[in-house]
Amino acid sequence: MYTDTLPRRGPRAIPYPCSRCVTGLTRDPVVIAHRGASGYRPEHTLAAYRLAIALGADYVEPDLVPTRDGVLVARHEPEIGATTDVARRAEFAHRRTAKLVDGRAVTGWFVEDFTLGELRTLYARERLPWLRPGNRGYDGQFAVPTLDEILVLVRHESRRYGRPVGVYPEVKNPSYFASVGLAMEGPVVAALHRHTALQPGAPVYVQSFEPSCLRRLAGLTSLPLVQLVGAVGAPRDLVVAGDRRGYSDLVTPLGLREISTYAGAIGVHKDLVVPPPTVERVGRPTTVVDRAHSAGLLVHVWTLRDENHFLPPELRMGTKPGQRGRAAAEHRRFLDLGVDGVFTDFPDTAVAARAAHRAVGRRRLTIAGAVRS
Ligand code: G3P
Ligand code: CA
Repeated sequence: MYTDTLPRRGPRAIPYPCSRCVTGLTRDPVVIAHRGASGYRPEHTLAAYRLAIALGADYVEPDLVPTRDGVLVARHEPEIGATTDVARRAEFAHRRTAKLVDGRAVTGWFVEDFTLGELRTLYARERLPWLRPGNRGYDGQFAVPTLDEILVLVRHESRRYGRPVGVYPEVKNPSYFASVGLAMEGPVVAALHRHTALQPGAPVYVQSFEPSCLRRLAGLTSLPLVQLVGAVGAPRDLVVAGDRRGYSDLVTPLGLREISTYAGAIGVHKDLVVPPPTVERVGRPTTVVDRAHSAGLLVHVWTLRDENHFLPPELRMGTKPGQRGRAAAEHRRFLDLGVDGVFTDFPDTAVAARAAHRAVGRRRLTIAGAVRS
């Protein structure tokens, strides 16, 4: 377990390369490729992860769900109709059904109703074709990858580029999958332990929205864990348990201290760091980054995307929602606020923004040195 021998900051081990240095000097924030380079390729495909690494991402982020035979694969949600060609496959038409997922009615095709063999006959499709028409050309080209395949790819690309590339899996809908007999914590940890045994020192984070899932993971591994925090609502496991706390309670000083007993970082919706502007007020930053750091937690923010549709009004360019706006400026905004990492669909934008952020930091240090001497 590579984290055991590394410096600790707060109750959980800080992964290496850590994004903040124990001496207090700020290290580079990490670039996490959200679902791969999903701005350029259909999300959660080996092609998307491979491109993310080529563009300089430090981590690739697979969201994990299990097949009927318990194999972990990369999809963002149990329903696979939105991101594969299953709806066009006559042989699976009878699998279309309605289920309750985390209290929400969903109709479609569900990963847990397919064996890995069946899933392997499907192909990925672009989730946002109206925003990313260029990606439609890749529809039907790439399979749904397993976690093991992603880990092999990451090891291979780390060797190819001569730098450690991390993996940042999310355990998706853990309460839901446990309720259908497909608990994921054990299989996720087993796969990641195999990975770190093959590549000692490999950077890994494991994330979930559900605190109980993270607590179970904490009992199984010393890999660094990340509590995800949504902009609104509450973790599903708390709702099921009748716990009235929501995400907003998780980021109070008390909530953050509790998180620090089982996790080393929070992954927060960007609106919790810079709330969107309203008619009445501009979007002023909150103090969540400082509060989390005070609790010994790193802060990774999600999800930054280049298109106007996802940018605040002042950073949009042109009139089309799919047109790319001044996304680098948004990245810089978060980096300047001291976040330790960003989830992005466009890793090249984040890498460039980080380089600019770093250059400004160096200039400040040079000027401060000149003033002192
Ligand atoms: O895991 C960080 C972020 O990806 C959470 O949002 O919905 O894209 O998995 P989601
Ligand atoms: Ca995710």
